[in-house]
Amino acid sequence: MPIRIPQAKKKELDEDAPRRSSKKIPFRSPKGMHDTLPDDFLYLEKIRKVLEKVSSFYGFDRIDTPVLEDIRLFERGTGMTSEVVEKQMFVVKGKHSGSSLALRPEMTPGVLRAYVQSGMNHTRIPGKFFYLSSLFRHEQPQAGRFRQFRQVGFEILNATDPAYDAQVVFASYKILSELRLKDVVVRINSIGCKTCRASYVKKLKEYYRRKATKLCRDCQKRYKDNPLRLLDCKNEKCQPYKQDAPISVDALCSACKKHFTSVLEFLDDAKIPYLVDHFLVRGLDYYSRTVFELFVDGLGFALGGGGRYDYLSEMLSGPKMGATGSALGVERIIEAMKHFEIVPAKQKQARVFMVHMGEEAKRKAFCLLELFYREGIVVRESFSRDSLKSQLRLADKEEVDIALILGQREVFEEVVIVRDMKTGNQETVPLSRATAVVKKKLKGKK
Ligand code: HAM
Repeated sequence: MPIRIPQAKKKELDEDAPRRSSKKIPFRSPKGMHDTLPDDFLYLEKIRKVLEKVSSFYGFDRIDTPVLEDIRLFERGTGMTSEVVEKQMFVVKGKHSGSSLALRPEMTPGVLRAYVQSGMNHTRIPGKFFYLSSLFRHEQPQAGRFRQFRQVGFEILNATDPAYDAQVVFASYKILSELRLKDVVVRINSIGCKTCRASYVKKLKEYYRRKATKLCRDCQKRYKDNPLRLLDCKNEKCQPYKQDAPISVDALCSACKKHFTSVLEFLDDAKIPYLVDHFLVRGLDYYSRTVFELFVDGLGFALGGGGRYDYLSEMLSGPKMGATGSALGVERIIEAMKHFEIVPAKQKQARVFMVHMGEEAKRKAFCLLELFYREGIVVRESFSRDSLKSQLRLADKEEVDIALILGQREVFEEVVIVRDMKTGNQETVPLSRATAVVKKKLKGKK
């Protein structure tokens, strides 16, 4: 006899659902660090898929490094005068060990270390890597700025060709456009090599010499420790002085000029919209020649950034090695997607729901799930609910194609009711044929 599905009201549905309580746990996630809940994974998974598509096309292989690294890797690599090292590192000490480890604030030095440590610098030239990894910076949390966040990024090691600078820009741009983010603009600049930068910095210091006392407190320090960064100060007080400051592209040596022109030509050919920004210098100490950041109009922060870092390996006492890379902030991409109402399509997973009535049927249903697992058919259940009504309502909510119904009688007769959720038609089939029948029905519904 076919089972009639009663039209239960929402209240009735929850009648036999697990009890809810208003009691709260007195702990919260640490400041600036967030849980990644199932709805967030909708975005995260979409970003991961796009990253993998772009990476596999351009020949990047996935890499990850330990979350903790020797603190000196960042002090010498990212740089003592960078804010990341100066103010934002989480330092970890073992209970009985004297040496300090740091929670990685960025991936670049670790990836380079891993490349050399593994000997890949002899076998993979260039080494092209991508990552989707968590990072930690002790920042004051605000929009788009967290203490734990993720980056997707690309690093190309043992590579000096300007085509590779353009390729990391292009790959990052492509990720954003594949995610349907419009009006992405690349801001780009060249800060030269060791030689031409030294004479440029001298000129810059000369320009700022008489103004130094009028600058903000940070810039007074920058004037001494890292004069290039005077150019990306955001403080109102310092803006008027920036306008007439000498610019780095005017001071490039002929090799750096040629390199920069070539990068821009690649971007022109690929039709990547860019803007040469003479004030862009980036906040990490290892950059040389090309530096860039990616923006989307309407958001108050950069979505990503990167550049060439030809001296990083030597700064870490490694072999001489040209390199270039880029990283995008995942939380910032998600924020941008939400801002522009880009919602990734939800993948429907389950097409079948298992309904049980009574303890014996629940036990049988439990085992039946295993047969469906082996066939690769995803089946939902609700073992904590007992009533037929509420289980069928849930099956409806999950938008499954088929409900399998097991009652005491079905268990006794070794059969199961297979119900088409759209038409309401149902048939009783032997348990031994359940997977085959469901498979056939699902095939017909594709
Ligand atoms: P970065 O500019 O420090 O560069 O970070 C890249 C991106 O990570 C930023 O544009 C931003 O989207 C995101 N990001 C940075 N800090 C935070 C934060 N506190 N909260 C949320 N998102 C953040 C680097 O990290 C370089 N390693 C990039 C690179 C790769 N250069 C060469 N290769």
